[in-house]
Parts: sequence; C-alpha cells; structure tokens
Amino acid sequence: MRAKIVAGNWKMNKTLDEGLKLVTELVNILRDEVRSEAQVVLAPPFPYLIPFGRIVEGSPHVAMGAQNCYHRPSGAYTGEVSAEMLASVGVKYVIIGHSERRQYAGETNEQLTEKVNLALQHGLTPIFCCGETLEQRQAGGYVAFVGSQLTESLFHLDTTQLGKIVIAYEPIWAIGTGVTASSAQAQEMHAALRGHVAERYGQATADRLSILYGGSVGAANARELFACPDVDGGLVGGASLKSRDFVEIVKSI
Ligand code: PGA
Repeated sequence: MRAKIVAGNWKMNKTLDEGLKLVTELVNILRDEVRSEAQVVLAPPFPYLIPFGRIVEGSPHVAMGAQNCYHRPSGAYTGEVSAEMLASVGVKYVIIGHSERRQYAGETNEQLTEKVNLALQHGLTPIFCCGETLEQRQAGGYVAFVGSQLTESLFHLDTTQLGKIVIAYEPIWAIGTGVTASSAQAQEMHAALRGHVAERYGQATADRLSILYGGSVGAANARELFACPDVDGGLVGGASLKSRDFVEIVKSI
C-alpha cells in the first residue's frame, strides 16, 4: 500500500490571524468529520510553521511542511532558510522544485539535487515537483521531459533514499488556471513516471512511491483524479485556503 497524501500549499497568502483561524478550523473539522487514513500536510509561509505546528500537534495524520529550503547547509545566505532549521522546528515535509520557484527564483535541477540531499539528511520528506509547460505538452515529448526532471534531480539517490521521496506531478498549464488535467492525462503521466522509476530502482520501489497530482485540484474534481490507480493524492494550492474545500478534498481520498 502506498501512502495517500493531501498537501496544502498556501504559497504567499494569509496574515497570521487569518492563517491561525484557517488552521484551527481545519484541525477541528478533520478531527470531527474525517476518518480517512490519508496524511494531511499543511505548507504555510515560513513564519507560521511554529505557531501552526503547535495547533496541529496531537492531530493524527496532520503534519507541517515548508514550501522551500535553501540548497546550502548553512552560512552567509541572507534571507534563506535551511533544511536543518526546518527540521529543528518540527517540520516533516518540504516542497522542492515547485514550478513557481523554478520560474521566479531560477532554480536549476542541480540546485534541486542539493535541496533533496539536504532535506533527506535532516529527516525531512521532500515533495519533489515536476511538470511541463503548455508549449511542451503541445509539442509532444512531454512525458520524456518530465521523466528527465526526475532523472536529473533524483536518480543519484540510492534505493533507500528514493523510497523516502514523494513526487508531485504538476502540469504548469494547470496551476492556478482553473484548468485541471483530465484524469486520463494525469494517469498517463503518473504511470509513466512510476515506470521510469521502476526502470532505475525496480518495480517494488516504484510501487511504494507516492505520486501526487497538483494543478487546480478542487472539491469538484478531486474524487475523479484520486480514483486513478497511479494518483496517490494531491498538492493543492488555491483550494487549500478554504477549510471546507480542503476538507472535501481530503475526504475524496
Ligand atoms: P493550484 O496550485 O491548486 O492553485 O492550481 C497547485 C500548486 O501550485 O501546488
């Protein structure tokens, strides 16, 4: 059985008061209404990780995640946050290689390799993001392109390390656009990525790998997406900012 995961990526949204209200609501509704065994990950902005961590403490199946970490272990890197710091405040997951960071912060596959290494070294679970642009999809070859993102940033890992990774397939054309990949499109890519991992690490390792779908996941489409055999949950942006929507997504697992 693969771990089922629903992660909420808040991006750069909410003040502290707004966030505290949302997390408190979420924890209460999840406790009262949700019987699912799915792992819920909340990834708010850095300043909120400690106060929110106190609220989710003791909630089974809810853990804190960060949206990023730096690709160097420590030192004179003004404004950055290390994997070790995240681990030291109780964070369990870290999103690595989100397309917005690849685009706006110019993150390269080589830097992502370093981030993955540091996250694993400090006991964090990387949620490694991959995905193609609309132009790449239309030109064809998008399956090979996304596979190469895994090859370049992950395939240096040994089997034990790879077994600790969560992958999030996020087609860039579906992020924040309201356009979701169809379940057939998601399943095609997820199965291909699992096959790609199987070729390098063997079928047993690939079968244990959780591959999340991200890109305009909402209460209305989560059930159909999560029903795909190779979709093991979701990385949710916009809909993670509303407690009811997010809970409905968790219930869809
Ligand atoms: P979205 O974002 O759900 O708002 O499309 C997903 C993501 O970027 O992780």
